Amino acid sequence: MDTDDFADVDPVIELRGVRKRYDTGGEIVEALKGIDFVARPGEFVAIMGPSGSGKSTMLNVLGLLDAPTEGVVLLNGRDVTDLSDEEMTLERKRSIGFVFQNFYLIPTLTATENVEVPTLFDDDPTAHDRAIDLLSRVGLGDRLEHRPNQLSGGQKQRVAIARSLVNRPRILLADEPTGNLDRETGRTILEEFTRIKEEDDVAVIAVTHDSQVTKYADRTINLVDGLIRTEEDDYGT
Ligand SMILES: Nc1ncnc2c1ncn2[C@@H]1O[C@H](COP(=O)(O)OP(=O)(O)OP(=O)(O)O)[C@@H](O)[C@H]1O
Ligand SMILES: [Mg+2]
Repeated sequence: MDTDDFADVDPVIELRGVRKRYDTGGEIVEALKGIDFVARPGEFVAIMGPSGSGKSTMLNVLGLLDAPTEGVVLLNGRDVTDLSDEEMTLERKRSIGFVFQNFYLIPTLTATENVEVPTLFDDDPTAHDRAIDLLSRVGLGDRLEHRPNQLSGGQKQRVAIARSLVNRPRILLADEPTGNLDRETGRTILEEFTRIKEEDDVAVIAVTHDSQVTKYADRTINLVDGLIRTEEDDYGT
């Protein structure tokens, strides 16, 4: 889909004038210096930029894991910046899936059980079947009972992706989703992202250094030193 096709759709998540300062023992680092950003349902946005430019910080703010120092976060048009921790956790669980760089799988659980973890408190009888279905989709239908130490790095990554989708998020946030994968496995993941954005209208936002990801993305934004650098800057217009 062309970027312009999204213009009429209400954003699912939005940042307005977001700044994030870290104070580490007197030294202040401003990781985000005024970010305006929207993502719409069914859109795949890639975030690129040098190490330390603020990509993970931005993802954490988008995921309601970290509050901005200044500015506003809107989820489905609602200002969620000042919600209590409890409300924030609820909103996060309802709407947002994460794929972290370190997969954080639980070593004593099987692949299927790991995927079911986010549903454990829901008493949802369909969760188990959904977990199996998701694992099959990412090519792990024959690894359902394996534990993390019996899986390769790429397979663990795919379990983490299946887990991120088990609560049917409206937004999927991924930090280097293909970082540890060979090209072919990376492609499997990117095709799964494409499927969920097209079929389920999920907004997929992925931090990446991988040019393969940007080929699948509807648009790519560049973060440089805590600011989004627009293409106009690149071309001097
Ligand atoms: N918890 C923290 N406390 C203090 N400074 C932090 C913290 N987290 C990040 N920073 C600083 O904020 C800046 C942005 O960090 P961030 O992790 O967002 O970068 P990044 O773009 O994700 O980099 P990379 O590509 O290396 O993962 C860096 O200068 C970093 O040192
Ligand atoms: Mg990072």
